[in-house]
Amino acid sequence: MTASPSDHHRPAAGAPSAPDHPAISLRAVTKDFGPGVKGLDEVSLDIAPGSITVLLGLSGSGKSTLLRHLNGLQRPTRGRIEVLGEAVGELPGPALRRLRREIGMIFQDFGLVGAMSVLENVCTGRLGSLRGPRMGLIMYPRAVRLEALEQLERVGLADRAHQRADTLSGGQQQRVAIARSLMQHPRILLADEPVASLDPVSSRQILDLLQRLREEDGLTVVTALHQVDLALDLADRVIGLRGGRVVLDRSTTGLSPRDAARIYESVATPTTEEMESLTDMSTLTAARR
Ligand SMILES: Nc1ncnc2c1ncn2[C@@H]1O[C@H](COP(=O)(O)OP(=O)(O)O)[C@@H](O)[C@H]1O
Ligand SMILES: [Mg+2]
Repeated sequence: MTASPSDHHRPAAGAPSAPDHPAISLRAVTKDFGPGVKGLDEVSLDIAPGSITVLLGLSGSGKSTLLRHLNGLQRPTRGRIEVLGEAVGELPGPALRRLRREIGMIFQDFGLVGAMSVLENVCTGRLGSLRGPRMGLIMYPRAVRLEALEQLERVGLADRAHQRADTLSGGQQQRVAIARSLMQHPRILLADEPVASLDPVSSRQILDLLQRLREEDGLTVVTALHQVDLALDLADRVIGLRGGRVVLDRSTTGLSPRDAARIYESVATPTTEEMESLTDMSTLTAARR
């Protein structure tokens, strides 16, 4: 019997099995970056397994900080974060590395090695669970190479396997990055502005792909976006951040155009205070020159 990629997504032993157990849970999470700079401010929320949540907010509102806390890249100053039932802010190194294998992450700039082939880039997604250095495609076990091809097939790029990654378009590179993260067999996929540098057609393709992976693999997706229209099409739920605080948290079912306009206003329009701080910053920079 051949294993299909979705066979890899059975919950691990000891994982929370109750369907209503949140995949991610935050309680009063605060991150102080210094006096007066709060990356996160008393954030509490629960995210259901298999859901798609979009984090909305202006630049500097705390979206990336929140995502980095979910995979333990940053630890909270106060508060508690549980991911797949584990207290991520308190895990010792080895346990954190194990948990991170269940959490894929993709970024605005794709993070591929441009001079490497597409297929080898995808294979590197398995590095976290292989021993020893891997240099060159041939160093990966055959089973890993075959699975990397399967994952490329899923994102529609199997025919590009042997091309250099930097010869692909931005949208294709992001699909390769997604295939690479699938090599970890993640249960959660975090995406930090995955379509911010893509044209509208490629952006739509990436978001459709995220939706398909949620359907096929039951992935829990949390993604930062700054386009309200894309967010409302993609997400089950939108969470608006402003100055590290949750200022909006609602399901996208049954939204009227008026609700959409309010969402836009509450997260995408700078307040007078924010405008002033921007002006202050530019005056300050101008004065320093
Ligand atoms: N490593 C850091 N050191 C100091 N301040 C930071 C750091 N990372 C983020 N911040 C600050 O935290 C706030 C939120 O930043 P960020 O999460 O990057 O916002 P977003 O992703 O929504 O643009 C901003 O005020 C930013 O300047
Ligand atoms: Mg960011």
